[in-house]
Order: sequence, then structure tokens, then C-alpha cells
Amino acid sequence: MTTLITGAGGYLGRRIAAALHDEDVILAMRGADKRERPGAQEVIPIDLCEENPFAELDPRRITRIIHAAAVIRFDVDRDTARRVNVAGTARVREFAERCERLERFVLLSTLYSAGRRQGDVREVRHDDAGFVNHYEWSKWAAEECVLEPPGLPVTVVRLPTVISEDDGTVGQYNAFHHTIRLYYSGLLTLLPGDPATPLSLATAGFTVDAVTALLDAEPGIYQACSGPVSLGTAVDTAFSVFERDADFMRRMLPRPVPCDQASFHDMVSAARALRGGPLQPALASVAPFAEQLYLSKSFRTERLRAAWPGYRTADPVALVESVCAHLVERRFNAAR
Ligand SMILES: NC(=O)c1ccc[n+]([C@@H]2O[C@H](COP(=O)([O-])OP(=O)(O)OC[C@H]3O[C@@H](n4cnc5c(N)ncnc54)[C@H](OP(=O)(O)O)[C@@H]3O)[C@@H](O)[C@H]2O)c1
Repeated sequence: MTTLITGAGGYLGRRIAAALHDEDVILAMRGADKRERPGAQEVIPIDLCEENPFAELDPRRITRIIHAAAVIRFDVDRDTARRVNVAGTARVREFAERCERLERFVLLSTLYSAGRRQGDVREVRHDDAGFVNHYEWSKWAAEECVLEPPGLPVTVVRLPTVISEDDGTVGQYNAFHHTIRLYYSGLLTLLPGDPATPLSLATAGFTVDAVTALLDAEPGIYQACSGPVSLGTAVDTAFSVFERDADFMRRMLPRPVPCDQASFHDMVSAARALRGGPLQPALASVAPFAEQLYLSKSFRTERLRAAWPGYRTADPVALVESVCAHLVERRFNAAR
């Protein structure tokens, strides 16, 4: 069994590779020649934007592919998302089709490949319900690319938003942490979204366990939903943590007020016209995903539960609390 991991230098790719340390693993990463070889695992350089990124690799060696490489920014432009996440996935698929011993092709996707769909979201292929940003669209298109035409042993794992390590420290800063920082600093005083919208927030450990547990399960689509916690509860929890901090209390910042989508949209448009000042970048960083916070979804997990007997989710309120406490304690220092 030889597993090829793309994006093996990334946040989840590194952790999945570490979990498979006993196995024969090939780590495919961008700029690999500049990196150290971690342990005994083999490293190859790839750039998914190149015509034939796996030219050096003998497809007869590969029995499993875990495709984790992607551009994951919510504000990614459409062309970059198409080139890396869609065309790049098509190249991995082309290579997978040449792997005659292939037993599993795992695509790491996102719960938000569901796009603008609301209500129950099942572990099935989605049709195009529209998307809030190009990242969502590209992950949906990547799913389509591996599932259609059928024929490969494909497992799509739709992942939640990873906000911390298992010990509550933060290893990767994303939209969640940046938004919490805006609230702490008083740059965001509104709550875009419906406070009842459920969020699926998880630790890296949960996510890696889900992926590794599904490696030997039947191919198919699985939703690794963790939590969930409502948007309103998550923000209230963050403020409960802030309100234990003397610096924050001195600034007497009120809790954010929920606003409807049209008002938020108007405010983002108005802020675009402002030159300089902190408001425009603050709103611009939230705008690429804010619409999703108005679209309430309930992710079904029957297939995941059946395939992963160890499925457990952490208490989501405790998770948000420990992450916010960590961020405040560090004064958001590592936040990019
Ligand atoms: N983290 C989450 O909360 C989360 C949630 C849902 C889904 N996911 C999915 O999980 C997967 C892994 O995410 P992650 O958090 O580990 O992201 P990440 O840390 O950004 O890792 C992605 C990796 O892909 C590589 N990559 C980007 N463009 C490439 C290209 N043209 N050719 C080759 N490699 C390229 C990056 O290399 P560079 O470092 O050189 O750019 C990086 O190592 C993604 O598919 C993502 O959509 C993640």
C-alpha cells in the first residue's frame, strides 16, 4: 500500500502524513526541494498548475491518493480557484486513472460545497445551488471532477472549519480567527448573519481522524460535521471570554448587533467608497463569507456515523471558549 498525499506541506496534509507514519507514503508538495525530508517518507515536488505534475512518478506504485492541495482563501479570485482547485484536481484525476492498482482516491472537500443550499444537506452529490464565493464554487467543481464520470474508487470527505489543535492552541489562522480579532478590537460592531445559523467548528485532530477512519470505508461522500454551534452562541461565547480581559473591558465595547443581509451589503458597499481607515479592510475580510451566515444548513452525517464507529464531536462551546481564550492571551499575535 503506497499513499500519495498532495498538499502534504499544508496544514491538514502534514497532519494526515504524520498519522500515516507507519505506512509507505509519498508527500507531494510545492517547493518540496527546499524542504527537509520528514522522517523516512519520500517527498516529490509538484505544482498542480503545471501540465503534467506527476511526470516523475510511476503510477504503478500508487494504491491510494489523498488530494489535500488547494487554495483555501475565501477571497480567492475565480481564475486562481479554477486553475488550482478545479483544473489541478482534474490533473490529479488524470494521474489516478493511470494508477492501475488504485484502491482509493480521497478528495478533501468542504461542507460548504453545498453553496447557497439551505436546510438538510445530505451526503450526496450536489447540484449547483449557487455559491457565496469562488472557493466554495471551486470545491464543488472539484467534487464533480472526481465523481463524474464515475469509475474511480472515490471518497469525498466534506470537512468542517478547523479552528484549533486538540489542546486549544491555534495552528492555522483563518476567517474564524480574523473575525474574532475584529470583534475584540472593536472594528466589527455588527453581526452579519442569522444568530441561529449553525456553524460546524472542529479541531485538526477530529478532521484528521475522520479522514484516516474513512480510508478503508466504502467509497462515497461523507460529511465530517462537528459541533455544531449556532452563530449567536459562538459570538456570545467569544464576548464572555473578552469580558474577562481588563484591556477589553476598559474599551467598553458593546456586543455586536445582528443585522440583516441587505443592511450588511449596503454597509460593505458604503465602506468601499471610504479611503483609508480600518473599517473598509475589516468589512472586506468578512464580506467573502458573510452571506453564508444567513443560510442555515443542517449537515446530515448518517454515512459518516456508519463508517466511523469512533465518531465523537467535542463540546463546541468549550472549543470556541478555549480558542478565544488562547487568542486573547496571545493578543492575536500570530494572526496574519
Ligand atoms: N483547514 C480547514 O479548516 C479546511 C476546512 C474545509 C476543507 N478544507 C480542505 O482541506 C484541504 C487542506 O486544507 P489545509 O487547511 O491543509 O490548507 P493549506 O494549509 O493551505 O494547504 C494546502 C496546500 O496546498 C498547496 N497548494 C496550493 N496550490 C498548489 C499548487 N498549485 N500545486 C501544488 N500544491 C498547491 C499549498 O502549498 P503552498 O503552501 O505552497 O501554497 C498547501 O501546502 C483543502 O482541500 C481544503 O479545501 C480545509
